[in-house]
Amino acid sequence: MLKLGVNIDHVATLREARYRGLKRGEPDPVAAARMCVQAGAHGITAHLREDRRHIVDRDVVALRAAVEVRFNLEMAIVPEIVDIALLVKPDVVCLVPERRQEVTTEGGLDVAAHLDPIRRAVDRLNRGGIEVSLFVAPDLAQIEASSLTGTQFVELHAGAFAEEFHDAKNRERELDRLTDAARLARSLGLRVNGGHGLNYENLRALHRVPFLEELNIGHSIVSRAVFDGLDRSVKEMLALMEGYDGEPLPK
Ligand code: PXP
Repeated sequence: MLKLGVNIDHVATLREARYRGLKRGEPDPVAAARMCVQAGAHGITAHLREDRRHIVDRDVVALRAAVEVRFNLEMAIVPEIVDIALLVKPDVVCLVPERRQEVTTEGGLDVAAHLDPIRRAVDRLNRGGIEVSLFVAPDLAQIEASSLTGTQFVELHAGAFAEEFHDAKNRERELDRLTDAARLARSLGLRVNGGHGLNYENLRALHRVPFLEELNIGHSIVSRAVFDGLDRSVKEMLALMEGYDGEPLPK
């Protein structure tokens, strides 16, 4: 079964728009996380950025205490944030780029160029009992590099697919790239997640990509929740994910 991790960062974005610097405020990302889990989400994802532009440290602690399903903490490879992860103990950490020089041309982590620091971070986190995922473009060189780091997962960056979704030819190309990347990752012993830019319109097309375990989706769900509420928005996304069989569907 394809699992849904709901990224609740943008609930915190809305709170910070009014209550930045205060220790309270609405909407509360922890309450949102609870609601997503009640609606059937398999996991909760949050990104503790170095600039704390949405999720802040107290959210991460409160989320860990409140979330009984899989808690995925996204972060850059910054020693201070890795230390926080080792204290808070999310189930999994997804390492993402935050600085321009850490990014591949396609937006994922440039693993090939940062092999040593990534390896060290993966090792520290694994030794702390935390699984690791690397957010990478569907680029075969990045997948190969990922397999040298000791990471358990890669999360395939679906942003290019999402951007090209309305152009049939480019969409097919991006789906092929995601498929090839998923196949290679699998053959190298990596588990495969996906995320970024997925929404109610493009989700079904992604069923063609094999070996996906979990999708991390935030913006589209939180946006829809403004009109429909979180419960309905999560359930509608889960319905679109139903029927995924992990193998390519006929084109
Ligand atoms: N996965 C990762 C690694 C991300 O950085 C993000 C964006 O924060 C997402 C998934 C979710 O992307 P979106 O908000 O576009 O659904």
